[in-house]
Amino acid sequence: MGMRTGRRGLIGLALAGGAIALSGCGSEAPSRPSTPSRTPAQGGSATPVGGDLAVSKDPTCGCCGGWIEHAEDSGFTVTVDHPDSLDDVFAAHDVAADVQSCHLTRHSSGALFVGHVPAPILASYLADRPAGSRGLSVPGMPVGSPGMEAGDDFEPYAVLLLHEDGSTSTFAEVTRASEQYF
Ligand code: CU
Ligand code: CU
Repeated sequence: MGMRTGRRGLIGLALAGGAIALSGCGSEAPSRPSTPSRTPAQGGSATPVGGDLAVSKDPTCGCCGGWIEHAEDSGFTVTVDHPDSLDDVFAAHDVAADVQSCHLTRHSSGALFVGHVPAPILASYLADRPAGSRGLSVPGMPVGSPGMEAGDDFEPYAVLLLHEDGSTSTFAEVTRASEQYF
């Protein structure tokens, strides 16, 4: 009797822990061990370039709205759409699951920006676009990134370069919150 109850309890726990949503605004960002980086972000020296950004996001996403404000404050013009399925949008743009986030942005040049990419880094990419690349991604939703501000909390993160062949490399390391703003 006692054993059976115990086993049922364990199964219940396993089920409760089984469904973990990876993305979705309002939820905690996936926790990653963050190691301090020695490479300064490349964004610091960039100047605003402007341009048109088209953002696809979920209608209820608050942090997406925060990022859009950040982009507008940084000189970009932003239009927003709410597709039925963000998964379909990522698939249509060949953005693999491990580099996805809560929203996908297309610049008028065709460049893709996934998630909470800081505007100065986005601008430095547009100013000198590496050959064979298609854009940048900040996978997941790092705490303290633009639109994900939480007081003084800041989780260092990497901005990834998306290559046309589907591979990625590190474009910039963001180690301080102040590197994220012009
Ligand atoms: Cu977000
Ligand atoms: Cu978002």
